[in-house]
Amino acid sequence: MADAQWWQHAVGYEIYPQSFFDSNHDGVGDLPGIQTKISYLTSLGVDFVWLSAFYPSGQVDSGYDVTDYRGIDPQYGTLADFTALVTAFHAANIKVVIDLALNHTSSQHPWFQAAVQDPASPYHDYYVWRPATATTVPNNWESIFGGSAWTYVPAVDAAYLHTFAEDQPDLNWENSAVRREMAATIQWWADRGIDGVRLDGVTHLKKRQDFANVGHPRMDYYQDVAGTDVFLAALKPVLTRNQLFVIGEAGGIDMPTAQRWLDPQQGFFDLLLEFDHVHFWEKAEPKLPVAALRATLSKWQFGLEKSGGWNALFIENHDLPRAVSYYGNATDYRRRSAKALALWYLLMKGTPFIYQGQELGLPNAGFTQISQYRDLDSRLYYQQQRAAGVPAKQVLAQLAMGSRDNARTPMPWTHQQYGGFSDHEPWIQLAPGTDQINVERESHDPHSVLTFYQQLIRLKKSVPALEQGRYELIDTRDDQLYVYRRTLNGDNWLVVVNMSNQVATTQEFDLTTSELIFTNTEVDADSDDLEIHPWEARLYHLRKLE
Ligand code: GLC
Repeated sequence: MADAQWWQHAVGYEIYPQSFFDSNHDGVGDLPGIQTKISYLTSLGVDFVWLSAFYPSGQVDSGYDVTDYRGIDPQYGTLADFTALVTAFHAANIKVVIDLALNHTSSQHPWFQAAVQDPASPYHDYYVWRPATATTVPNNWESIFGGSAWTYVPAVDAAYLHTFAEDQPDLNWENSAVRREMAATIQWWADRGIDGVRLDGVTHLKKRQDFANVGHPRMDYYQDVAGTDVFLAALKPVLTRNQLFVIGEAGGIDMPTAQRWLDPQQGFFDLLLEFDHVHFWEKAEPKLPVAALRATLSKWQFGLEKSGGWNALFIENHDLPRAVSYYGNATDYRRRSAKALALWYLLMKGTPFIYQGQELGLPNAGFTQISQYRDLDSRLYYQQQRAAGVPAKQVLAQLAMGSRDNARTPMPWTHQQYGGFSDHEPWIQLAPGTDQINVERESHDPHSVLTFYQQLIRLKKSVPALEQGRYELIDTRDDQLYVYRRTLNGDNWLVVVNMSNQVATTQEFDLTTSELIFTNTEVDADSDDLEIHPWEARLYHLRKLE
């Protein structure tokens, strides 16, 4: 792959600006704060950052309810701060990807305000309106955050569609003016030096146009609706002209669509964030389904290998709980399981993403009261479940496992008060254990999760087979081990990870001709013992060809 694109050699890092670093003492992270931490990202081995939504916003959905696509929310700084940040990242050889929430705006956005105030305004048709009354909705479509997806506006005598919160009206992508606005917005940011965009929620853009009742009221009206390609095609010229790196958030996407959208010539995206391997979280199952993970991740590895697409590798983001708490074992094997998870997902074929704090092995927030939560989705869920008679204790236990706030806690930089994130009380409490789990301490500890991530990233980048080699699953047919090979021109590497709390043994692979290169535990390098300890992860270089 001599002409591989830069992002195929890259490691990405998602920054949640609200919780990264507070430079102006108000308890909220900001853009100048991010700028002071660039050398940390360099030392980790990061090549691009994805900045979560930072636009002026109603702050109903943590910035994903935009009131102005061409600005910075004052709590994060100014446009001048943004330009300075991009310049500083570029000086450090780090590219910048911004997050564009293009399925919906805030209800406070001037377009929506105009749409409501004057149905004859051109902005009226920027949104999706259907006949309704104060007591009847157009159909059974539901919001992802719960309840009907329609809200009636008396002044208009119609209801508007919102796939998410009531304060997040969906844009009408059938209207070519909306598509032109978004293309112009992307150009506007390209003119400010960005290198890429993450297009938020692209599988939500196209709605069924018959507005009929659907079988699954939270899903069937948008996902897999043919016609999204027309919308994406309207953005392609601006993306191509500016040579932007394009990531799509594509929940629920099927393989044929992903293969088409990732096609190097005809497609629209360089990487897609699909959620097949993380939707287990929604059910909050306590048991780790290793066999299901093998099937799911391998499906994507094989499917995109076949079509010439490229995988995005991730186990955390701002919408998911912490991986060490869910996939791993944050109670008995926190460090070891955090490292095992790192080795497991990062060495697959694709571009790895790290979400801030993941590289420290930071666990879930550990909140025990609803008043500690800030996330709208979590608070609405609590209200809905309580109204349905579910005991508070039970709902809080679910949130403690699955809430998005679990990963939105402040980044712990030091062992000091508020984790050195701020000298003011933060907008949300810290995760437990940051006296030990923090950047300062972990960067001086050769056995820390952070040091492990640094070494692993260096290793992946230095071995062509680990970057570009084919992925081959070795199916151990158990519910403990995840084993795969990476292979390129006869150079073979083997990854063995025990994703369970019990010792695992297997006959599925032979280690007699292999050399142990990297591991998260003390293993006797000369032993070909196939007892793999709980949460042990090993990388072997296979000396001979099969
Ligand atoms: C995207 C964002 C998520 C947000 C949602 C609706 O999925 O990642 O944080 O809640 O869009 O705005």
